[in-house]
Amino acid sequence: KISSVSALEILDSRGNPTIKVYVRLEDGTLGTASVPSGASTGSNEAIELRDGADRYGGKGVLKAVENVNTEIAGALTGKWATDQRVIDDVMIRLDGTENKDRLGANAILGVSMAVARAGANISGLPLYQYLGGAGTPRIPVPCMNILNGGEHADNSVDFQEFMLIPDGAPNFREGLRYVSETFHHLKSILNRKGLATSVGDEGGFAPNCKSNEEAVELITQAIGEAGYEPGKDLSIGIDSAANSFSPNLNNQYDLKWSGKGKALSKDLIDLTGKWLDNYPIILWEDPLSEGDWEGFAQFTKKYGDRIEVVGDDIFVTNTKFISKGIELKTANAALIKLNQIGTVSETIDAVRMCREAGWRYFLSHRSGETEDSFLADFAVAMDGGHLKSGSACRGERLAKYNRLLEIEHELKGHSEYRWS
Ligand code: PGA
Ligand code: ZN
Repeated sequence: KISSVSALEILDSRGNPTIKVYVRLEDGTLGTASVPSGASTGSNEAIELRDGADRYGGKGVLKAVENVNTEIAGALTGKWATDQRVIDDVMIRLDGTENKDRLGANAILGVSMAVARAGANISGLPLYQYLGGAGTPRIPVPCMNILNGGEHADNSVDFQEFMLIPDGAPNFREGLRYVSETFHHLKSILNRKGLATSVGDEGGFAPNCKSNEEAVELITQAIGEAGYEPGKDLSIGIDSAANSFSPNLNNQYDLKWSGKGKALSKDLIDLTGKWLDNYPIILWEDPLSEGDWEGFAQFTKKYGDRIEVVGDDIFVTNTKFISKGIELKTANAALIKLNQIGTVSETIDAVRMCREAGWRYFLSHRSGETEDSFLADFAVAMDGGHLKSGSACRGERLAKYNRLLEIEHELKGHSEYRWS
């Protein structure tokens, strides 16, 4: 049973405050968890409670900390940590709002994750097994964002993420090596071209490319120079994060890359067709904005049998929007982020809904992260076959990949590694 719940204000990978939660059980067992934070958010995400005023530029989380230490602690003390769903329901009811803005989704999620950890610890199981149950665990194929643009970098690239996907590797350990080697070859190519090799929020390079297409060309070149075969050993995934260049979040787009300027959904859909013919792309996330449901459906109709079409900002890990997407054939996969919805149980509900509809689901970190590797275990437990946690660089990104290496190692060959 839970004997205490408390929280602390810590800093995330961008140097902004976030929350770390400690859940202690009567026998002394401890569960802790830290909460991530996004930059290019969907407008229907659960709300992070921030203090406002001057401290940390308004981004402090002392109110959320206080809510954990008082109201939430009061409601959960004496409850069984292994009753995850009961605990999450108590917090949802206690908050009482649609988007968790009273107690804060950051406060609620921190507790929800820390309770899961405490539950795993007292059960004597690794977190992935506690949440995932029996069966041969699948280590997810990493989708590694090695070139950053959009709101994650101060450069000329509109699309936010260019991900390398080692779907042809025999196991996770080798897949990670393929990407790391290619990442270093990409650095050499950028150096040769006189382009910047500083990195963006997710550890990918953030060069000032001449166009969005140059970014995908450079990556394909790096795959070859690293000695791998594009489309066989390594594939590419893109997250346009189109909200960030759609000022009114509708079907109109404002691209900074040279000579393009304004674009409509149709222009972006046509561009995708050309890229799919020329590059080994197997996944495309948020090709259009969260208000462009019609464009999304056309995109999926056109390319959905060739690639995984993922909705992130449009679905925000919320079964209300995912069910609409399933009905309207808006995509064929949903991005899954714990802090978009705010509890472990509701995140599992989103995964279940995708699974039952024959959709894929794609576990994800946020651009603001901590050293907490909860996501790695969670992704194994959810068995989605792939996850994204940024590039082969920056400690908060590697914390998740290193934990996956550890899980694969501990399982001594009794694990799978496959995309689908
Ligand atoms: P965010 O970006 O964490 O800044 O929202 C990640 C994504 O768009 O997938
Ligand atoms: Zn996204």
